[in-house]
Amino acid sequence: MSGNIFLVGLMGSGKTTVGRALARKLNKRFIDSDHEIEARTGVSIPVIFEIEGEVSFRQREADVIRDLTALSDIVLATGGGAVLNPDSLRYLHERGTVIYLRAGINSILQRTRNDKNRPLLRTADPRKKLEELEAQRHPLYQQAAHLVIETGRPNVQHLVQSILDKLPKSSTKVDFQPYQTDMQSVKNGTLQTLNLDLGERSYSISIGQQLLEDSLLIAEKIRGKHVVIVTNTVVAPLYLARLEAQFKSLDKTCSAVILPDGEAYKNWDHLNLIFDHLLRHKCDRKTILIALGGGVIGDMTGFAAATYMRGVPFVQIPTTLLSQVDSSVGGKTGINHPLGKNMIGAFYQPQAVIADTSTLNSLPDKELSAGLAEVIKHGAIIDAGFFTWLEQNMARLRAKEPDALAYVIARSCEIKADVVQQDEREGGLRAILNFGHTFGHAIEAGLGFGTWLHGEAVGCGMVMAAELSFRLGHIDYVSKTRIKQLVENAGLPVVAPDLGEQRWLELMEVDKKNEGGQIKFILLKPLGTSVISSVPEQVLLETLRHCILE
Ligand code: NAD
Ligand code: GLY
Repeated sequence: MSGNIFLVGLMGSGKTTVGRALARKLNKRFIDSDHEIEARTGVSIPVIFEIEGEVSFRQREADVIRDLTALSDIVLATGGGAVLNPDSLRYLHERGTVIYLRAGINSILQRTRNDKNRPLLRTADPRKKLEELEAQRHPLYQQAAHLVIETGRPNVQHLVQSILDKLPKSSTKVDFQPYQTDMQSVKNGTLQTLNLDLGERSYSISIGQQLLEDSLLIAEKIRGKHVVIVTNTVVAPLYLARLEAQFKSLDKTCSAVILPDGEAYKNWDHLNLIFDHLLRHKCDRKTILIALGGGVIGDMTGFAAATYMRGVPFVQIPTTLLSQVDSSVGGKTGINHPLGKNMIGAFYQPQAVIADTSTLNSLPDKELSAGLAEVIKHGAIIDAGFFTWLEQNMARLRAKEPDALAYVIARSCEIKADVVQQDEREGGLRAILNFGHTFGHAIEAGLGFGTWLHGEAVGCGMVMAAELSFRLGHIDYVSKTRIKQLVENAGLPVVAPDLGEQRWLELMEVDKKNEGGQIKFILLKPLGTSVISSVPEQVLLETLRHCILE
């Protein structure tokens, strides 16, 4: 965990002043890369420019950036041209949270007018020079940045406070190493345990291989005497007997409800089959329901648990990538209505999540891709560094390399837990986890539930939401292209189905985020951070047309 914060932006945008104040507030060490270069060479920057020229200075700067970004817990103010070197840009982006301080040309001119230490501004027309520098560097600053701050405010303390407010909690802990917290050795690999802290509704998320074989873990996490396993016709032949054997050896009474497989059955009629079973078996309030399967089984079992006798405990044993990285965590439960996706449901937290990553060995490739959509979502909305890691490791993930899968499951659960801890019932922040879902849910409902997989619809929905963000000027062309490329590399569709414009709008109007009839979207601003907003209908229609035709 680096804990680093890097400031980028044009000369005179306030990086040193703001960086110093920010470091004081966050109790981190402050370093200015220009001062470091001067300390290493023993001469001032203008002298280096004069004697060696800009090319040589840039090489010195790149060396310093490489070395300093490898440190931990620093606030680093970089020189205005640091991002020109592609390696430096990558180091900055991957090794900390990058804040782009964006200042207007007029205020930069005002701040630098008496500064003799700016070799690039020693020209007859500094305004023209600054405009050229801005045109050249602005796209690079945006590419590097996780957060863009307009420095219009005159008061440094005010500016620092607004950075502290906007700094996503998780961006102070960008982490590119495999997750390492609470690691305990188990027989066939490594068990990782995360905790979702919700007071009396807190629970653990256990991630590891062969957890269905781990009687100690199962005994610890599932304590009641009576269990009912809810699963489906695909998962039952693969894993039900194994789990039943565990319960038998632990001396628990156990029965199973086996539902038909698929999103098309996530409805009242099939939810009722669970209630029929519970009542027929005279299950009481101490009975624990176990969801053994993907997100459909998890959502339905959770909703049954929330409502049977006004609430019985349940445990999630997710067996798809999608359910291990997303749906088993956070307590959203429910079923679909013919008019809208997940429209009937409850917030109801499980008692534990046990994600046995070995179950992914039997998962079809198409389903693996569907899960990767939610993983990409986590990078896109919160952690640009994680997004970059996914770009570099997609082939390993699609080849089901255990280490790579374990890392993305743990990092995804960590990101999701962090959001849910701050906003369990989606009063605001949690809605960002719906990035791509406004479009995605419309695709699922519009084509008929089960025609496209949920993850496929979300993948395409993220491409559409990125296009919308681009058209609104929130992200640049490079970022929207990276999103589309990553979704495509994950094996997901990137061209939207043609439902007809009117139908698209109608479907998006049935969304839980909407307020007062206005459709709300999760937009990237920039890649790695997100905002919730309504959009002008014209831009939405242009986005739809573009994404359907692409
Ligand atoms: P799914 O549950 O339909 O599972 C996908 C397919 O894989 C099914 O055919 C299933 O039987 C099969 N399967 C499951 N485990 C397997 C295994 N180990 N080996 C082989 N086949 C296996 O779909 P999903 O993608 O897991 O979940 C999608 C659902 O999750 C949607 O209904 C979506 O709305 C919901 N969801 C909920 C949340 C939430 O927060 N509650 C978040 C995201 C998605
Ligand atoms: N999958 C969206 C959420 O859990 O909030």
